[in-house]
Amino acid sequence: MKAIILAGGSGERFWPLSNSKTPKQFLKLFSDKTLIRETYERMRYKMEPTDIFIITAEKYQQLTMKEIPEIPKENIILEPIPRNTAPACMIGTQIAQDDEIVVILPADHYIPDKSKFWDTLSEAIQGAQKYDGLFTLGINPTRPETGYGYIEAGKAINNSTYKVNSFKEKPDPEKAKIFLSKGNYYWNSGMFIWKKGTFLEQMKKHSPGIYNQLINISPWDTDNLRKIMPNIEKISIDYALLERSDNVYVVKADFVWSDVGNWVSVRELQGYSDNDENVHVIDGKNVFVKSDKFVGIIGLSNIIVVEGENGILIAKEEYSQDVRKISEKLKKIG
Ligand code: GDD
Ligand code: MG
Repeated sequence: MKAIILAGGSGERFWPLSNSKTPKQFLKLFSDKTLIRETYERMRYKMEPTDIFIITAEKYQQLTMKEIPEIPKENIILEPIPRNTAPACMIGTQIAQDDEIVVILPADHYIPDKSKFWDTLSEAIQGAQKYDGLFTLGINPTRPETGYGYIEAGKAINNSTYKVNSFKEKPDPEKAKIFLSKGNYYWNSGMFIWKKGTFLEQMKKHSPGIYNQLINISPWDTDNLRKIMPNIEKISIDYALLERSDNVYVVKADFVWSDVGNWVSVRELQGYSDNDENVHVIDGKNVFVKSDKFVGIIGLSNIIVVEGENGILIAKEEYSQDVRKISEKLKKIG
């Protein structure tokens, strides 16, 4: 079995801590370890370092090596030009042997309980061995979130696993509300489990363009990838494969999970800072503060204050999605 951690994203919703040089996966949001380090340790819990691979942008090579010095250098696969997760999955999965199981994982999620995580993952691994399908891990939805994929569970094949009727990536708010009300929809956790052979056969059928462009390229042939990648479609695996395939299964995830999409998700997990030693609030409440300095807040509620090396963020909670606009603006200024 091989684990492949996708770590090439350039999420910028965590300014002023993140920017294009230090995206979310390299931040220490919940402990003294970065999210990518936590992801590696979660897999290392049951796997050897030599079987854990990371696929990331060339510009993050040094950072990745620094975070995870235990894995061999060749286990860090480099993309000269990132084209979203479908090409990354196609390159990554080819590391494995034909009948070997591949586990694809995002690098930037919060999953505190390794043991419970592995209970669910083991079920998916057994399922993928037995049914030759594309296996997903489904999270119970709690709000009509439009930033996730929605998995419609169909016929049960055992206590925790279902054949998938349909997969809808990032629905509009109306659809998300309907899905939430149905009871048999799950959020896609962004983790996938498949046999290399099953995945390649499905890619050939549903995304023949990406399949044909990458099928004969070694994951380590960065020079050739540099030539090919500009012509490859920029598309996520959710749109390129999961939405199109009729060979998808979902295992109900029985562990605490968050994809930590913005500062509000961090606040939800860590709680408000109103009673922190360095925070003093007058005529206000429900503030979230990340700073080593003393912070005084007067007459403001439901706000986020984050101090980083590159600046200070002060935002109303309801605008936390717009933090990326600041990153974009700063990129333009240079
Ligand atoms: N190597 C590589 N190359 N990695 C990438 C690239 C790329 O071009 N683009 C993104 N990634 C990595 C990110 O760093 C992250 O770890 C993971 O792939 C997922 O990418 P996101 O960009 O964070 O995806 P998303 O959050 O919008 O949506 C996905 O995750 C949701 C759950 O968090 C989808 O799978 C949704 O269906 C799912 O609900
Ligand atoms: Mg994400």
